[in-house]
Amino acid sequence: MKNLHIIYAGVFFTIAFSWGGLVLSSQIQQADLVPVASEEGGQLYPRKASGYAIQGKDVYISQGCNYCHSQQVRPSGMGGDIARGWGQRSTVSRDYILQDRVLLGTMRTGPDLADIGGRQSSDIWHYLHLFDPQITSPGSNMPSFRQLFELRREGATPSKDAIRIPPTHAAAAPAGYEWVPTERGRNLVAYLRSLKLDYNSPEAKLKE
Ligand code: HEC
Repeated sequence: MKNLHIIYAGVFFTIAFSWGGLVLSSQIQQADLVPVASEEGGQLYPRKASGYAIQGKDVYISQGCNYCHSQQVRPSGMGGDIARGWGQRSTVSRDYILQDRVLLGTMRTGPDLADIGGRQSSDIWHYLHLFDPQITSPGSNMPSFRQLFELRREGATPSKDAIRIPPTHAAAAPAGYEWVPTERGRNLVAYLRSLKLDYNSPEAKLKE
């Protein structure tokens, strides 16, 4: 084994080159990205997420939403994402700089959600869809997330966040009861509503 030092050197350089290529070069290219001011000034983008949305992101991860949904919109020339209405522009590195865990996703069983807060701003729609996707999107193969709702006995007046499941639905609340989103359900919807690609980044302008 008189060539041991060559083997060690080979191992060292293999690891050093891949670290340099994957970690160091990305750091050099991306580390200086900072939020940009809107054209009117004032608001900085990307926005900081609210506390509810940050907690909702944990729910998104724990329910496995990212196994079926990506959060990355490709530019027009590289696929049909923009033509499908998944965003008014492609996503760029700057969009992710304030995120501690970036959920780019690898599968697209369902539509891309990078701009879902922009195209679907109704809380009620999201609650009905999560309760049972068949209510809003017949034929959907997205599972139901009924664990994010609880069946509660109705008070003297229905509570303001109760959702109205069509009475013909098998899981419709029996008389005197109502379906209400749990705290986790509300946080998840706050997170979905916060996902928006609505600012002009120096790298990609809206409506390319
Ligand atoms: C097994 C795959 C799968 C999982 C897991 C899944 N989805 Fe979906 N999702 C889909 C499919 C397919 C559609 C398209 C049909 C529809 O609208 O239901 C969809 C649609 C959506 C839409 C509407 C998108 C649009 O453009 O209108 C939203 C919002 C959404 N999903 C959120 C979620 C959230 C939040 C979770 C986790 C709690 C989740 N999905 C988990 C498959 C999935």
